[in-house]
Amino acid sequence: MNTVLDFKLIANKNGKCLDEAKLHTQYKIKYIKDYVRRWLNVAVNSRQRNIVFIDSMCNAGIYKNGVKGTCIEVIELFIEYAKENQAKQFYVFLNDYDQDKIMVLKKLISNYNTPNNLRINITDKDVVKYLTLLIEKNIFSNSCFTLLYTDPYNFGIPNLLTTIKTFIDKFYCELLFNYFSSDVTRNKNNTSAKNKMSKIKNELSSVITDINIDDDENKEILNKLISTYKDTKNIKYSFAYRFNNTNNAELYYIIFFTPNKRGLELIKESIWKVFNGEESFKKQIDIDKSQLKLFNTDDLLISTYSGPMKESIIKLAYEKGELSYDDIETYVLENSLLKDSHIIKPIINPLLEGGILEKITPTGVRKNNYKESKYKINDKV
Ligand SMILES: C[S@@+](CC[C@H](N)C(=O)[O-])C[C@H]1O[C@@H](n2cnc3c(N)ncnc32)[C@H](O)[C@@H]1O
Repeated sequence: MNTVLDFKLIANKNGKCLDEAKLHTQYKIKYIKDYVRRWLNVAVNSRQRNIVFIDSMCNAGIYKNGVKGTCIEVIELFIEYAKENQAKQFYVFLNDYDQDKIMVLKKLISNYNTPNNLRINITDKDVVKYLTLLIEKNIFSNSCFTLLYTDPYNFGIPNLLTTIKTFIDKFYCELLFNYFSSDVTRNKNNTSAKNKMSKIKNELSSVITDINIDDDENKEILNKLISTYKDTKNIKYSFAYRFNNTNNAELYYIIFFTPNKRGLELIKESIWKVFNGEESFKKQIDIDKSQLKLFNTDDLLISTYSGPMKESIIKLAYEKGELSYDDIETYVLENSLLKDSHIIKPIINPLLEGGILEKITPTGVRKNNYKESKYKINDKV
């Protein structure tokens, strides 16, 4: 039997316990789904036999207006990939402490025909208890290609940050974490939210030793949080994408952490696909793209982002003396919206042509090979 579910009908029947999918939520779902598809393409070609997606705060899989939640989108992708890749074993772990939501999710999933090489595990625990249990069971150690998603409504769930840190320290995996920065900002200036703020402070200082919540700028707190997670055994790269609310004020960041440069390249592809390379998700992103296409928005964005990046690369070259292509690529991918294909033409070439950088190509390597060349400040300038 092929499953064609009427999501609007199911949403109407289960209306009471379902959330509304605001525009930013819908785009967050599109973003994660787009990335998971790219990630799966890498996973099925990797050496690892087990492909694991964990959504530790997964919601009901469906929203009030019939919009599919991330976990259902992921299940559908996993069914497609599991059928095509019989030699691999696929696992989806879903958890949410709201029992009504989990009941809806279980009903929804029971309608799908899942291939034998796909296992779906659904639980209704508190996220910290759930992740602690997964850590204790130690099941993702061997031959697992793992992606953990943790997406709370707000910031300050006690012990969540340390538990995630232990998880990524123990298991070789990628992480997508929703850092609800607006909760920190809003409560900082609200004298009647002392309890909430003390919870937030405790939570942040549980992983960040040099935090000073009253004085640190919001961006500084975000960067410190990113640094502590990058200090773990496997994580090497990160990127934080900002989501704004309908008034265009900052709401949260989806922070992506990965041990692998390929992951960083792919998340950027998703950002350009889903958000057209816009700096953050905002209401206007939904404007009919055909109107925007009167101008070449890609070129405009690339030149806007590459200006400051050229300056930063010059500074970096002064500091380090010599840069590899990899140094430049990592810096640009982590610190701007630019993606892999925006590095040579918009950044490296203008710096070479302007005589600011010089390219040193090792003997035996073709002159037009950028990736194996080194770059340094041109002494003749
Ligand atoms: C923002 S929603 C998740 C949305 C989901 N990622 C999606 O894309 O469809 C947050 C979910 O976390 C759940 N939640 C909140 N606090 C929790 C906790 N301490 N433990 C487990 N789940 C929790 C809520 O019930 C809610 O369903």
